[in-house]
Amino acid sequence: MKFFVDTADTDEIRDLAATGVVDGVTTNPSLVAKSGRDFTEVVKEICAMVDGPVSAEVTATDADAMVEEGRKLAKIADNVAIKVPLTWDGLKACKALSQGGTMVNVTLCFSANQALLAAKAGATFISPFIGRLDDIGEDGMDLIRDIRIVYDNYDALSTQILAASIRNDDHVRQSALAGADVATVPPQVLRGLIQHDLTDKGLAAFLADWEKTGQSIL
Ligand code: G3P
Repeated sequence: MKFFVDTADTDEIRDLAATGVVDGVTTNPSLVAKSGRDFTEVVKEICAMVDGPVSAEVTATDADAMVEEGRKLAKIADNVAIKVPLTWDGLKACKALSQGGTMVNVTLCFSANQALLAAKAGATFISPFIGRLDDIGEDGMDLIRDIRIVYDNYDALSTQILAASIRNDDHVRQSALAGADVATVPPQVLRGLIQHDLTDKGLAAFLADWEKTGQSIL
């Protein structure tokens, strides 16, 4: 499973990208607002930091304007993926942009039927929102599992499942088990994935024993 970082915080992206675990980045209007930075500038900076897809979301709601915005954003860098909402206009924009060779991430997906529509419209990525389904008392992971089955039923559907609205490490684990192609993970959740008490304890014991030898490698 690929990891995208779900943030517009360039310091976080730079630091995490240095570990080699970052395959891409996703942003949305809320994350850009949180960064307090100019949208185009921040997308350009992120695209230069990672080789993989960087999602930048349109804010128009009619298809023609989405396509216009998408084409403008796509000029920022070759690795921009245009994010469009799961509406009929969004699907029209998805078709037009993807036919023109631009990666498209269809966002705000809450059902397998929506995911089917997005794939038929040529989406590169579908973004099912796990956490927001959990918020309303459903099991967001069921949606990932359903979409995996639907897409695997048809060779013609090549859209990648990008598990989004991930809130905790179990969402990551379960997304991987369910066969999501990508998980977009907030920086604090990504950082938490490494934590295990036995790793910390084991390292402390190794270092204490090494200290006793009085040796040094360098
Ligand atoms: O990229 C969008 C998505 O990940 C949003 O997550 O936590 O606001 O539901 P959340």
